[in-house]
Amino acid sequence: MTDADTNRVFLLADRPEGVPDADTFDLVERDVPDPGEGEVLVRTLYLSVDPYMRGRMRDRESYADPWDVGEPLRGGVVGEVVASNHDDFGRGDAVVGNLQWAEYAVADGDDLRTVDPDLAPLSTHLGVLGMPGRTAYFGLFRVGEPEPGDTVVVSAASGAVGSVVGQLARIAGCRVVGFAGSAEKTTYLTDELGFDAAIDYRSVDDYRGALDDAAPGGVDVYFDNVGGPITDAVFTRLNEGARVAVCGQISLYNEEATPTGPRKLGTLIQTRARVEGFLVGDFESDYGTATRRLGEWVDAGEIRYRETVADGLENAPDAFLALFEGDKLGKQLVKVAERREA
Ligand SMILES: NC(=O)c1ccc[n+]([C@@H]2O[C@H](COP(=O)([O-])OP(=O)(O)OC[C@H]3O[C@@H](n4cnc5c(N)ncnc54)[C@H](OP(=O)(O)O)[C@@H]3O)[C@@H](O)[C@H]2O)c1
Repeated sequence: MTDADTNRVFLLADRPEGVPDADTFDLVERDVPDPGEGEVLVRTLYLSVDPYMRGRMRDRESYADPWDVGEPLRGGVVGEVVASNHDDFGRGDAVVGNLQWAEYAVADGDDLRTVDPDLAPLSTHLGVLGMPGRTAYFGLFRVGEPEPGDTVVVSAASGAVGSVVGQLARIAGCRVVGFAGSAEKTTYLTDELGFDAAIDYRSVDDYRGALDDAAPGGVDVYFDNVGGPITDAVFTRLNEGARVAVCGQISLYNEEATPTGPRKLGTLIQTRARVEGFLVGDFESDYGTATRRLGEWVDAGEIRYRETVADGLENAPDAFLALFEGDKLGKQLVKVAERREA
C-alpha cells in the first residue's frame, strides 16, 4: 500500500502549564494504519500549526474539544491519498482535512476534500486560501462590516489571519493600521501589504499615543486577534458606532488565569460600539464563495501572503511555539514530505 512501514505520530505527552515546551509533545513510531471500509489513507505533505491548539491542550471545555493526554494531536493537513476505500477519493488525489500530526493518517470522507494542485500551491489551502484566510474574510466583512473611509485596526497583523484582514480592509477602501511584534514585521505591513501605518508593540510603551499618531481619526473597526493591553488601548480610541470583531486572544492563551485589569467597557456606552465574537465555522455554508474570492484577489496580486515553513514533522513543536514567541512571518506551516503521487 505504501513503501513505508512505520509512521511517526505526535502525541500530547502532558498538559502544559504556561508556555508549552518539549515535555508537552511525544514523537512515537507506529505502524502505518490500514484504511477501513469507506476510509482513506493520507500521506501528510504540510501540517498547519494554529493558536487554537493551545486551548485543546487544556482539560477545559472550549469551542474545540480538549485533546486527551497520550492521544495524537490533530490539525489542518494537506496531503495526498495513497490508498482509498472511498468512492470520492482516489490514489494521488491532493486533499485537505483535519488529521493527526503524523506522516500518515486515516480519514473518513466526511473530514476530507480534494483540492486542485494546479490552481494554487498546496500549502495555501492551510493559509491564505484555507481556514485563516476565511477567518479574515468573514470576521472582517460579516462582523466588522467596514465602510469605505473607515479606519480598521488589526492586531497580530503580520500573521496568517491578520495579514489578510488588513489587505481586505485596504481593498474595501479603508485606512488600515496594524500591530505587530518587530520592525521587520511593521515594515512588511506598510511596504509590502499596503497598510497605512503599523505599530511595533514590542518597541512602543504608549499604545494609545501610538494609535493617536497612526489613527488620528479614531477606530471604526477593530479586528482583535490578541486581547490584553493592545486591545485595552484600542478600546479607548473607538469611534461612535465602532465594531469590534473578537477573533482571538492569543496574548492570554498561555495564562493559567485570565488577568484582571482596568476595565475598558465604559467606552462602549459613550461610543455605542458593538463587540462581537465569532468562529469561522459559523459561516461554513459560504466557504465556497470566500475561498473563490480570496483566490481571485491572490491571482490578481491584490492579496499577498507569506509562509514560514519548518522542515520535518519533528520540528512541529517548535513551529507551534513560534506562534507565541517566534519571529515567523505570515502563516506558520510544517513541511512533512514532498508530493510523490502526482
Ligand atoms: N475565531 C476564529 O474562528 C479563529 C480562527 C482562526 C484564528 N483565530 C485566532 O486568530 C488569531 C491569529 O491566528 P493566526 O492563525 O493568524 O496566528 P498568527 O497571527 O499567524 O500567529 C500568532 C501571532 O500572534 C502574535 N502574538 C503572539 N503572542 C502575542 C502577544 N502576547 N501579544 C500580541 N501579539 C502576540 C505573534 O505576532 P507578533 O510577532 O506580531 O507578536 C504571532 O505571530 C489567534 O488569536 C487565533 O486564535 C480565530
